[in-house]
Amino acid sequence: MKKVLVLFSHPNYEKSRVNKVLINHIKDIENVTVHDLYEEYPDFHIDVKFEKELLNTHDVIIWHHPFYWYSCPPLMKQWIDMVLEFNWAYGPEGKALHNKICLNAITTGGSKEVYCSAGYNSFTVAQFLRPFEQTANLCGMNYLPPFAVMGTHKLSDEKLENYKLNYGKLIDLLKSDVLLNNVEKTSFINDYPQLKNE
Ligand SMILES: Cc1cc2nc3c(=O)[nH]c(=O)nc-3n(C[C@H](O)[C@H](O)[C@H](O)COP(=O)(O)O)c2cc1C
Repeated sequence: MKKVLVLFSHPNYEKSRVNKVLINHIKDIENVTVHDLYEEYPDFHIDVKFEKELLNTHDVIIWHHPFYWYSCPPLMKQWIDMVLEFNWAYGPEGKALHNKICLNAITTGGSKEVYCSAGYNSFTVAQFLRPFEQTANLCGMNYLPPFAVMGTHKLSDEKLENYKLNYGKLIDLLKSDVLLNNVEKTSFINDYPQLKNE
């Protein structure tokens, strides 16, 4: 069974509605480590050695964060900058992350409809996430499409409940390694048949 590391980054968790529900649902699943970066490093001083050990002992890495200005909150970026060192994560000797699975789990205020060339955000979520995709590629990881909860401002409790259950299902599928064959063909991992909202 694969081990899943959820690198969670939310600058204002006390006021969170959506991420709080998602994280509470998955935090006690077996073989899942939820690592809350803002709780661990409020001063932004990341313990790089510890983070590398965590990465070494997990097979699936999830960058879980709300979408802030079309990207991740700053501590998530700091984590990427500090932890993914040359000749460890990438470069001629950098093979530590090779063949691990990696994806973003994001929540967005904007709805799916506004993330396209004709919508007011002009670009797709996949386009905004390109730096994450290429970071994973450079590190030899297998980058999967994002899990996305979109339109959070108008999201009903019922729909949020569905997303929560699907996030739990996704984690179970990632743990048992059954996802990889079809998933790369979908824009969002949510659209994988076994995760479609009933
Ligand atoms: C500083 C800031 C920047 C944001 N930028 C975006 C954005 O670029 N795109 C978007 O769709 N939503 C954006 N939002 C909305 C958040 O993504 C949304 O409120 C969040 O995902 C809801 O999750 P939560 O209830 O766990 O906080 C932004 C919110 C804040 C506070």
